[in-house]
Amino acid sequence: MTNGQMPTRQLGSQGLRVGAVGLGTMGMTMAYGPGDPGGSTAAIHRAYELGVTLFDTAELYGLGTGSSEQLLGRAVRGFRGDVVLATKFGYDLSDPAKIGTALNSRPHHIREVTENSLRHLGTDHIDLLYQHRVDPAVPIEDVAGTVGELVAEGKVRWFGLSEAGEDEIRRAHAAHPVSVLQTEYSVFERAVEADVLPALRELGIGFVPYSPLGRGFLTGDVRPAAAYPPDDMRSWDDRWQPGNYESNVSAVGELTAIARGKNATVAQLALAWLLAQGDDIVPIPGTRDPRRVEENVRAASLALTDGDLKRIHAVLPHGAAGARYPVALMPHW
Ligand SMILES: NC(=O)c1ccc[n+]([C@@H]2O[C@H](COP(=O)([O-])OP(=O)(O)OC[C@H]3O[C@@H](n4cnc5c(N)ncnc54)[C@H](OP(=O)(O)O)[C@@H]3O)[C@@H](O)[C@H]2O)c1
Repeated sequence: MTNGQMPTRQLGSQGLRVGAVGLGTMGMTMAYGPGDPGGSTAAIHRAYELGVTLFDTAELYGLGTGSSEQLLGRAVRGFRGDVVLATKFGYDLSDPAKIGTALNSRPHHIREVTENSLRHLGTDHIDLLYQHRVDPAVPIEDVAGTVGELVAEGKVRWFGLSEAGEDEIRRAHAAHPVSVLQTEYSVFERAVEADVLPALRELGIGFVPYSPLGRGFLTGDVRPAAAYPPDDMRSWDDRWQPGNYESNVSAVGELTAIARGKNATVAQLALAWLLAQGDDIVPIPGTRDPRRVEENVRAASLALTDGDLKRIHAVLPHGAAGARYPVALMPHW
């Protein structure tokens, strides 16, 4: 199932197959400064023309208004049947002061959020429904069981987890098959390599790396933290802070030189590096710009040799300088 020239990949063992590069929509409504609905819609349309079939959103990205799912649902209306819509539940958005930190995966809440997501997306089924964060207050078996019921009712097709650890993945998978895990993974952020990726491969679960461009650092367009407005998370992201920033700029400079040698951009190199980590991996770079979609999608045809992979590894053997989330927020984010 693909519209353009892009190769497809299988995610998990339950029949989910998508274009090798997907599209993330978080930045269209939050996290990286003001939205651009026109550019975002054009980006979604261009992605579809180029063979992207996996489109990623979440209840959270609308900050309780449904705006992210509505934007995506409207944009895909003309080709809904050709694409995989992925969304996520798991936050409690009732208190604006706690958005992003309060969790709620109670079965009743999952059902409520799913009904809202169906309405906002303007669809009768969600292709891929993720739990956004593990909720320590709710056994993961109850979460998997609830999503299993939604699958049986035809409201959901595939079950995903986000940022779950190995134990939770195993327990959830035993209760209802998990097709995909989504967690941050890039040349900058490598924690999943130790335990999570091997477990996924053992269980036959696909992997969707989020923030595959290191939240935009692994591109030619990066500025120091102070140059971003306060509503742009790069203003406080540790990897942008003085000290870490200079070290990371230097590493991206070395990666850019490797990319140039292959007639590619550093963003394409970063995405091709992820694709080369296994054919069970489908990155979802986020952008509001159709030209950047074109650039990112072309990474699917950039072949890296073993020598290229070794050179990239030598630049950043353990990932970027700086933590990916503030330590106090790690349990929730
Ligand atoms: N499960 C989770 O907890 C979780 C967390 C974070 C993200 N996600 C998902 O993963 C998706 C991707 O992650 P992300 O958006 O955080 O980070 P990302 O894809 O690593 O980077 C996005 C940033 O890079 C910029 N960008 C993209 N392509 C570019 C290019 N070719 N050249 C220059 N700049 C470029 C974008 O700016 P412009 O928009 O201005 O182009 C945006 O600021 C999200 O959209 C979301 O769907 C999931």
